[in-house]
Amino acid sequence: MSDSVLIAPSILAADYARLGEEVKAVEAAGADWLHLDVMDGHFVPNLSFGADVIAALRSQSNLLFDAHLMCAPVDQWIAPVAKAGADRITVHAEAGPHLDRSLAAIRALGKGAGVALNPATPVSVLEHVLDHLDLILILSVNPGFGGQKFISYATDKIRQAKALAGGRPIRVQVDGGIDAQTAPKAIEAGADVLVAGSAIFRNGDYAQAIASLRPAA
Ligand code: DX5
Ligand code: ZN
Repeated sequence: MSDSVLIAPSILAADYARLGEEVKAVEAAGADWLHLDVMDGHFVPNLSFGADVIAALRSQSNLLFDAHLMCAPVDQWIAPVAKAGADRITVHAEAGPHLDRSLAAIRALGKGAGVALNPATPVSVLEHVLDHLDLILILSVNPGFGGQKFISYATDKIRQAKALAGGRPIRVQVDGGIDAQTAPKAIEAGADVLVAGSAIFRNGDYAQAIASLRPAA
């Protein structure tokens, strides 16, 4: 499966009044992972949800829980999010001065560790932590909100991240503005996990929406 492209719906665009049903619906529709956008109103200018919501959803789904922490400082949220049931935990390189420490904390809890990079952050910041990473998340929008336009230079960064990862078993994930038009560009550049919020949850047919993001057969 490591060669395949995975689809990770972001519940940021789901109907919060029916969150458990929404998660079950995307799982039934063929989602591979569930993307959980945790926002602290400080690192990004928006608030979303935290560990309690993740814990409540854990009993509703067997999907891999992929938590994207848009929080600064972030270290205080790693253990609660792990305990809530996240399988992969991604922190931002820009969130603080101690990225190596954050990655070690995630791995010590037995979880997959990811680093997210804002659009303006160079991929080279990952050079020395590659052997401590399971995932690189390339933001293709400025994080904080769903429904934004894909930033086209993100494809250059996906290529660079893929090259930097070399032969290591590191997933390259893209997040922001992914739809049926931009997904092929991200895949062509080397992304193997596509996050999508609006393109899935704002489409009446989740199975069709998820299928439309997969590489053409
Ligand atoms: C942006 C979040 C994304 C967001 C993507 O801050 O990290 O995961 O939900 O939403 P769309 O797919 O609508 O751009
Ligand atoms: Zn995200």
